Amino acid sequence: MKKTFAYTTALLSTCSLLLAACGGNNTTTNSTNTTTEVGTTTDVSTIPIGIAVAQTSNVALLGQEQVAGVRIAEKYFNDKGGINGTPIKLVFQDTAGDEAGTINAFQTLINKDKVVGIVGPTLSQQAFSANPIAERSKVPVVGPSNTAKGIPEIGDYVARVSAPVAVVAPNAVKAALKQNPNIKKVAVFFAQNDAFSKSETETFQQTVKDQGLELVTVQKFQTTDTDFQSQATNTINLNPDLVIISGLAADGGNLVRQLRELGYKGLIIGGNGLNTSNVFAVCKALCDGVLIAQAYSPEHPAEINQAFRQAYVDQYKKEPPQFSAQAFAAVQVYVEALKALDSKNKVNKLQLPALRTELNKQLLAGKYNTPLGEISFTPVGEVVQKDFYVAQIKMEKDGSQGNFTFLK
Ligand code: ALA
Repeated sequence: MKKTFAYTTALLSTCSLLLAACGGNNTTTNSTNTTTEVGTTTDVSTIPIGIAVAQTSNVALLGQEQVAGVRIAEKYFNDKGGINGTPIKLVFQDTAGDEAGTINAFQTLINKDKVVGIVGPTLSQQAFSANPIAERSKVPVVGPSNTAKGIPEIGDYVARVSAPVAVVAPNAVKAALKQNPNIKKVAVFFAQNDAFSKSETETFQQTVKDQGLELVTVQKFQTTDTDFQSQATNTINLNPDLVIISGLAADGGNLVRQLRELGYKGLIIGGNGLNTSNVFAVCKALCDGVLIAQAYSPEHPAEINQAFRQAYVDQYKKEPPQFSAQAFAAVQVYVEALKALDSKNKVNKLQLPALRTELNKQLLAGKYNTPLGEISFTPVGEVVQKDFYVAQIKMEKDGSQGNFTFLK
């Protein structure tokens, strides 16, 4: 009895999600009853896409930019008719900053909210824990910001729009050398409790060697640290010409501030985890001059970027950041893949498991003209992207405001 009930519930909620998909298959239900059952949920007329990013915790310094990006995407694509007339609906589950929160968010989106696919999570550290759950459930995941090595390889249902550290990070070292060709000694810092930071520092350290520079020290910290006095002092005593930091926004910003307060005068490169104007409140005027490689430029000429940029500037009165643009692109991938799928094989005629599987195949096969430029995926789900940049933080003297200036 219990089993039958569970099956019926699952079937009904699957049917209700997929519009009138199951009515024709249910020979015991007449058409009037089918309409009543399907009509009992309010979501019959939207296609749910899950958003699992950090809306709270320190990681929300990045996650809140992602929320901004996906919200702009939801409005933009629904204004254009959604999926051939059916709007998308973003379903948010806050992951907070850790693995447990991400696993919960994924499970809720997959089993309760019955989303067709997930955009998330914010951190690679979270992705390595939660993405295998989506993989086992055969639910597509598009990473909007996971840049550690090995993310797409988690499984067939895992892709990302965020270019990996190996592609993005070396650009910052080259930009630093252009600004100061006399750089010889380099100090590297990384957060040892964070998968992305460990991956990014490997790329940075390799780039330092490839450029014939001397790696004078490798300093470790935790993303939860606030006091960097001893690592900063040890480093300054070695007289580096360049410091490279792989961490997240709060810890990274504090480390920049303390290096400067202790008298370090050379160039600083911040990695992808510091790529947010939310660090300005942490290191204030002392953020000035930090170089950060970018996978997005607000100046990208693509028409869709002009629309995205305008929508962002209208709402937030500043240029859109990389994390917002990538999150927009992740939703765009779903929308365009769903549209392509729907044109071949009406998505409201597919059962949810089949839809998730077909959607995954379709999204990996597509080409997308996004605010990041044209992107596509390798068969394993790695993003293929052409355009990368480096920006430098410019702060007002009083530290009250700042911006990212893109270098030529
Ligand atoms: N790029 C960072 C990560 O992958 C946010 O964790």
